[in-house]
Amino acid sequence: MEAKKRFYITTPIYYPSDKLHIGHTYCTVATDAMARYKRLTGCEVMFLTGTDEHGQKIEDKAREAGITPQQFVDNIVTGDRGILDLWKLMNISNDRFIRTTDAYHVTAIQKIFRKMYDNGDIYKGTYKGKYCKPCESFWTESQLVDGKCPDCGREVQDAEEEAYFFRLSKYADKVQHLLEDTDFLEPRSRVNEMVNNFIKPGLEDLCVSRTSFTWGIPVDFDPGHVVYVWVDALSNYITALGYGNDQYHDYETFWPADVHFVGKEIVRFHSIIWPAMLMSLGEPLPKKVFGHGWLLLDGGKMSKSKGNVVDPYILAEMFGVDALRFFLLRTFPFGSDGNFSNEALIQTINVDLANDLGNLLSRTVSMVGKYFGGTLPQGSGASQAEQALAAAVAGNADASGSLSGEGCQFDGELIGLAAGLRSRYEDAMEHFAFQNALTEIFKVIGRANKYIDENAPWVLAKDMEANGSRLAHVMYNLLETLRICAILLTPFIPTSAAEVLRQIGACEACSTWESAAAWGSLSGTVTVQRGDNLFPRIDTDKALEQLEAAAEAARKAALPGLGIEPQLEEKVDFDTFCKSDFRAVKVKACEAVKKSAKLLKFTLDDGTGVDRQILSGIAMWYKPEELVGKTLMAIVNLPPRKMMGQESQGMLISAVHTEKGEEALNLIMLDDKIPAGAKMC
Ligand code: MSP
Repeated sequence: MEAKKRFYITTPIYYPSDKLHIGHTYCTVATDAMARYKRLTGCEVMFLTGTDEHGQKIEDKAREAGITPQQFVDNIVTGDRGILDLWKLMNISNDRFIRTTDAYHVTAIQKIFRKMYDNGDIYKGTYKGKYCKPCESFWTESQLVDGKCPDCGREVQDAEEEAYFFRLSKYADKVQHLLEDTDFLEPRSRVNEMVNNFIKPGLEDLCVSRTSFTWGIPVDFDPGHVVYVWVDALSNYITALGYGNDQYHDYETFWPADVHFVGKEIVRFHSIIWPAMLMSLGEPLPKKVFGHGWLLLDGGKMSKSKGNVVDPYILAEMFGVDALRFFLLRTFPFGSDGNFSNEALIQTINVDLANDLGNLLSRTVSMVGKYFGGTLPQGSGASQAEQALAAAVAGNADASGSLSGEGCQFDGELIGLAAGLRSRYEDAMEHFAFQNALTEIFKVIGRANKYIDENAPWVLAKDMEANGSRLAHVMYNLLETLRICAILLTPFIPTSAAEVLRQIGACEACSTWESAAAWGSLSGTVTVQRGDNLFPRIDTDKALEQLEAAAEAARKAALPGLGIEPQLEEKVDFDTFCKSDFRAVKVKACEAVKKSAKLLKFTLDDGTGVDRQILSGIAMWYKPEELVGKTLMAIVNLPPRKMMGQESQGMLISAVHTEKGEEALNLIMLDDKIPAGAKMC
């Protein structure tokens, strides 16, 4: 028997410093889809995820919370609605979960550090440089951008201490060759960034130990030092397989990894430092690192300190796990950034899932019920000519279908498209092009919906004696199309895809990867099972309002009893502040937004001569008529944002505080002498 192919895939291990948001979920869902796809194709898969629990940031946060760092991370990892709960909710099928505080990992890191030390790649020196606490990154002066951390733009601190260094410089040429001359790093665009920004200016040795805090893995031969978090974290990919420990014994089986999925800001660690560490250890390199883009909110990165994180729990509970998984991979090309919005999420669910897939399924299953009592009659299945056509197409995705006989043109087109689907899908999936894979599936679903209209089953059903067998064959073709699409949708929407297969009566053998390329697998006398509507249509306005209410409730729950928003520690540099365009605006008209309990719509004179529309969630505090004629303060250069389907071009500024235990809000009102458009500075 041929040995099973193996596939080892990883997500980054997440910092349990805050609850995870939709951006982290995106990365994990993508990895899960890939792992499920590989299992579907028959591979033996190892899918690893976990948490990166050491470092000064965690130590500081635990101190602030008055608990130990271990209690702090335990709470975020295993606590209620913690990281493990989130992955369970999202139906993540990881085979292993590593925590860097796991004893076996700690021992293995000490061995790894010692091995690199023993072979001369780690030496002791003095560290003088800059340190970015939130990123846990050391930088040299020349790497800073405007004196700030080049990754996150925040302030860095001076740092000087005795430390161990890793001879990263020794591996510069080899790493450059790896990046430039192989397919190690994808997308290709990230290679130039790494080589030009980091390698060409000169790779300096890396500081790999710290003495100024203790929440880390001690260097066993010099216990005042803890191992730099990135050395600790990157090694998880091998320690979780059993490298340097006896907990697991899968290193020989699964290393080197087939791919590490990582966000773009940590590509540097994975494509420069990680290969150099492995070279030093004399271990094989992972086959690929794929740097995916970020999910942005209003054009910017989500971050807890900006208060703009999107909570996956709220979305999954409201729209369903599969719908959320689907949206993430359908909407954004994996290698690029994408703008998250609730409107886009609802639209994708309504168009693709409710309208296209959901309708195709419910129409087909109910017609088989109505016209044939739920079971197709003998002879409904694929003809030999159709199977031959499908086999030809399956072997060559570009072949197109042609058949002769009644209804043959439409049959040929549908069968041709569906039979070649697996091959086009596979091509996309092998390149991590999830969006393209889904586009291919939805082309076929769209074609099948058109096929219903072309064949007008309700007309055929008027004369069952004359048209009964044709009608049954039309139904069969629709069920076959649904079957193939459902198999290929399994990695993305596992629960719903299984439900589609159940409703269309697909047996186990005709739900496999192999059968997705074999048109005619379904029995010609298949029996369908009616079930619930898989993806009910969402009322956009109502859902948006509910989302706002849920987000507000979550915000309040996160700030128990605080009278005033906490002061943010984060500083904004003067230049950034100056980019904010605050203006005096005069209210020309103001009305409540229909179906919204919170929103008021303002038509404003901003001095440009063109009316500006701003929506503001202040209906609880103001009646529209009392604001007409007032001069208010607005920021006018925010990216436009849709609320309840209407565009808001900026934000009115108010003071928010608590009065007698209730949230209170006052718009900032300006003297009426100030003309519209006056700049606030
Ligand atoms: N602990 C390190 C990784 C160590 S791997 C050896 C880390 N953790 S993280 O929790 O900050 O981020 C984990 C992953 O989530 C990163 O790949 C990061 O890019 C990804 N994302 C965090 N926010 C994201 C978005 N808004 N969008 C997409 N991915 C995002 O880095």
